[in-house]
Amino acid sequence: MKSTSTHYGRVAQALHWLSALFIIFLLPLGFLMQTVDEGAKLMLYRTHVILGISVLLLTIARLVWHWFDESPKPPAGIKGNHLLLYQGIHWLLYIGMLVLTISGISLNVMSGLGEILSGAAPGPIPVDLSEFPPSVVHGITSRVFIALFVVHVAGVISYQATEGDVLKRIGIGGWGATRQSE
Ligand code: HEM
Ligand code: HEM
Repeated sequence: MKSTSTHYGRVAQALHWLSALFIIFLLPLGFLMQTVDEGAKLMLYRTHVILGISVLLLTIARLVWHWFDESPKPPAGIKGNHLLLYQGIHWLLYIGMLVLTISGISLNVMSGLGEILSGAAPGPIPVDLSEFPPSVVHGITSRVFIALFVVHVAGVISYQATEGDVLKRIGIGGWGATRQSE
């Protein structure tokens, strides 16, 4: 269950992949849901909110679990500026997940959207929520997050292809360079 100095444990692996799956779905959904007709809009906004709140709960669970868990050492060969980038991206991804989810919830509350989505107030869903500051924060952070995600995945693919099996550390692997990333 727990991580070792060379691999993430089952709990950290499950939390990573479940969060990743939800976020990979949430990013395009966030843009798409604003463009569809009213019937589909309600369903897609509700899905976005439920998955988004799930990401917040998963992120809190990850941070709490980190506290009890051992932290694996960085993969072999990651030093100097590369180490700063590796650690910095992980921290920024955590900050991104917290800012995105908290700004989303604040927007829901401040704009009254939450009441429309729960059925407590009549629709339609407002077309433009940009007068509410959390909407601006949510929009900017989601774009910065996409950039962080691209750098994270590019780093993983590049390490996997040239250095060692880093995917194995987080539960999947078996292709790429043969050196073990320990
Ligand atoms: C939005 C989606 C994602 C987020 C937010 C994310 C975030 C993170 C974070 C914070 C870590 C550090 C370990 C931890 O605290 O859990 C990590 C590790 C890792 N991620 Fe992701 N990740 C995402 C998607 C992906 C994808 C699609 C891949 C596959 C290409 C991937 C591959 C890895 C690997 C291999 C590690 C282990 C790095 C190491 O050995 O230290 N991640 N990820
Ligand atoms: C990691 C979790 C989340 C991700 C990746 C995400 C992603 C996105 C993206 C990419 C957009 C489109 C932004 C734009 O058009 O400028 C968006 C919009 C939106 N999101 Fe999220 N979101 C997340 C969590 C949440 C949560 C928890 C809520 C509410 C409880 C929420 C509510 C909304 C709303 C209401 C919009 C429409 C914004 C507007 O019309 O200005 N999101 N989201």
